[in-house]
Amino acid sequence: MNFNLTEEQQAVRAAARDFAEKELLPGVIERDNAQEFPAEQIKMMGELGFMGMMVDPKYGGGGMDTVSYVLAMEEISKVDASASVVMSVNNSLVCWGLEHFGSEEQKQKYLPKLATGEQIGAFCLSEPEAGSDATSQRTTAEDKGDHYLLNGTKNWITNGNSASVYLVMAQTHPEKRHKGINCLIVERDWEGFVVGKKEDKLGIRGSDTHSLMFTDVKVPKENRIGEDGFGFTLAMKSLNGGRIGIASQALGIAAGSLERSIAYAKERKAFGKEIAQHQAIQFKIADMATKVEAARLLCLKAAMLKDRKEDYSQASAMAKLYASQVAMENAVEAVQIHGGYGFVKEYHVERFMRDAKITQIYEGTSEIQKIVISRNVLK
Ligand code: CAA
Repeated sequence: MNFNLTEEQQAVRAAARDFAEKELLPGVIERDNAQEFPAEQIKMMGELGFMGMMVDPKYGGGGMDTVSYVLAMEEISKVDASASVVMSVNNSLVCWGLEHFGSEEQKQKYLPKLATGEQIGAFCLSEPEAGSDATSQRTTAEDKGDHYLLNGTKNWITNGNSASVYLVMAQTHPEKRHKGINCLIVERDWEGFVVGKKEDKLGIRGSDTHSLMFTDVKVPKENRIGEDGFGFTLAMKSLNGGRIGIASQALGIAAGSLERSIAYAKERKAFGKEIAQHQAIQFKIADMATKVEAARLLCLKAAMLKDRKEDYSQASAMAKLYASQVAMENAVEAVQIHGGYGFVKEYHVERFMRDAKITQIYEGTSEIQKIVISRNVLK
């Protein structure tokens, strides 16, 4: 077992931290208030290689490993979880699926712009009646010979309005259940595709989450990824990696809560001394630090297995289940440590508390992660 990071991995982490502090921190509260998408910052993240970190350089990516991705996700998420979800979805759910299962033509056409952040991608699985129960897709892709006719509605789609490329899951052969689902690449400006209302969310308010409507959208057959009926498998495999991204986002929120709590506890005085010298605060900090360490190890283990091309579905579910729980717990404790200051926006931790919640919901709720874990453990 080797816990040492390579020089390259350390450099990626330092670059992400530096970027987050210089470019994301100023304005993060204002963007959260205004529900403003960090368009300029995402463009910069693309230029720095954070939008297609693991994509092969021949398609414009960074050619990095998943461990580096976890490190960068943690640092970005310590400051701005809205920016990091855009990064996570683009890297894990869009670029990864395209690179691993797309045709050479699809990769050449779509990956270079996505991997450099010139364009953003969205992953469209959830529907009004298919969230956790993802096999129950109502969106249909009717086979019309040389094209599919796409009809239906998708819900809660991250990057819904800011994306240019959408990977849309749709049912072609309902009698085959999940084995009849296809994944189609849909472009933003195609006729019949309408971006619906923007959700007014509790947290990650800087990211844009929308419903999407497809009415008789003509999707050329060459835009199907993989064989006929491969869509659900693609979605599940992509989510296995996506969960490493969201686990790292949760880890970042948990670690950010800890870092801000330590700084505040060393500054704030009560009863004649810094609150860091009161055992009530020391014990909270000890618990928070231990949980961050454990969550980080789970995230890095899942990343390491993925990099070694071993099975990582259970490890990514465990990382997401635990890190999202820790994100919630640490953010609540950070607010408590900050007292009245924690309850106002200026000190950031109330945003952490709101942002943390979604990590227990998207890319598979905590209950879904337990299904994935228990099925693996009990088989
Ligand atoms: N990895 C690989 N394959 C998997 C898998 C995984 N983690 N989980 C399921 N599968 C495969 C199964 O092996 C099975 O394949 P076969 O039929 O070939 O054997 C197939 O998928 C169907 O699985 P089940 O029979 O187990 O189906 P189920 O309905 O009982 O359970 C589920 C499936 C695990 C609950 C699945 O529906 C699921 O993961 N649901 C959660 C969906 C989700 O994560 N949604 C997030 C939306 S995306 C998002 O949030 C992005 C964003 O914007 C931030």
